[in-house]
Amino acid sequence: MKLTDQEQAMLDGRDGKAKQKAMDLLVRYGEALGAERLVDTRNVCGTLGASTPFLRQYGQSRGGLDAVFSEFNLDSTEVVEIPKVAVFSSHLQHGIDPEHAERQGVPVEVVKLHRKGEAWAAGLGVQLLNTCAPYTVGNVPTRGEHCAWMESSAVIYINSVLGARTNAEGRESTGSAMLTGKIPYWGYHIEENRLGTHLVELDLDVQSTADWGLLGYYIGEVVQDRVPVVTGVREVPNLARLKHFGAAAASSGGVEMYHLAGITPEAPSLEAAFGKNRPVEKFRYGRAERRIAYEAANVTAKSPNVDFIMLGCPHYTIEQIWELCKLLEGKKLSPNTEMWIFTPRQTKHLADQNGYTKIITDAGAHLMSDTCSAMGRLIPKGAKVAAADSVKQAHYLPAIMGIECWFGTTADCVDAAVSGRWSGGID
Ligand code: F3S
Repeated sequence: MKLTDQEQAMLDGRDGKAKQKAMDLLVRYGEALGAERLVDTRNVCGTLGASTPFLRQYGQSRGGLDAVFSEFNLDSTEVVEIPKVAVFSSHLQHGIDPEHAERQGVPVEVVKLHRKGEAWAAGLGVQLLNTCAPYTVGNVPTRGEHCAWMESSAVIYINSVLGARTNAEGRESTGSAMLTGKIPYWGYHIEENRLGTHLVELDLDVQSTADWGLLGYYIGEVVQDRVPVVTGVREVPNLARLKHFGAAAASSGGVEMYHLAGITPEAPSLEAAFGKNRPVEKFRYGRAERRIAYEAANVTAKSPNVDFIMLGCPHYTIEQIWELCKLLEGKKLSPNTEMWIFTPRQTKHLADQNGYTKIITDAGAHLMSDTCSAMGRLIPKGAKVAAADSVKQAHYLPAIMGIECWFGTTADCVDAAVSGRWSGGID
């Protein structure tokens, strides 16, 4: 790999041990990928080893937070002192919500460790956005900006909707990028890799957020990790619909980049979306395909007796909270159900201020932040049958927690929370 003088100096240790370790990791990683060089990044989103669950395993017994970062972010068994981050760096979701730890069944000593880890990360200069949807709370990369982001739903969003450039990075590469401002130049950093490979023609109107999720789930299954180009979108989708579309496509396949012809920034036309490529496959998406996706999303659901409703995957926007409150206001949840809604911490402040948290609490539900059920492995004690308005959550929750999960619209989920029974479906 060709390095600049500045990069070589870091690799030689002239900027300290931690940056040397970080640069060594990036060079090894880049060479394994066949990258010829590194690229500068000023926007990193990752997860520090100093957040739970690593702290849960590690405690403070083996050298403190520097040791945790050294091992889990720099792949180094040698403990090095971690300096402040070199570039703008944000933290993704954590394993717990410290404000709802008791309800989530998280012991007090874990909360203490978590807060210590958070304070340490803030001291390094890491922005504690604590969400899988940082682009909804102020970290909005610009078109063409080289980033180093983890979290598949966020990666696909910033690549496709914002035109920023990132691959789906890992804990180690983002930790190293935070200290150096570098990431290997490969994959979606390179213009030609961003061109479309598969053509998807819509045969029906895709409107609701749930429908956008189903469309993404179907497309991901077909194209796997390639670049689909969707044509025939009749109504421009909003942020929440694209958030659910991308999260679902990244769950059933490994899609990190897509184009909506005439809508997303690198697809002003179908021709522009494909560039020099010819589609390797064309397929249609109509009612039959929508049903296939719906059945796949509901494959684990058997019992209609729902006891847990999870909303906010990826983390809800304020618009989604507002829409939920219109459905929930004045209602009471069944005594047999719990409803947990996840949103970024900053959006929760807004919901508190706008009275939405009160509407949610009065109904008997809980607005949480910082984590989610699947990634934090957090569900109410004894829950057996969940419901979600996110295909991604319905995909992961049963696999991770061993429970059933229904997928449907937000209204279906609210009905289930109130009645304790699932009555959703599609026509
Ligand atoms: Fe976010 Fe958890 Fe879904 S981290 S994308 S809410 S699985």
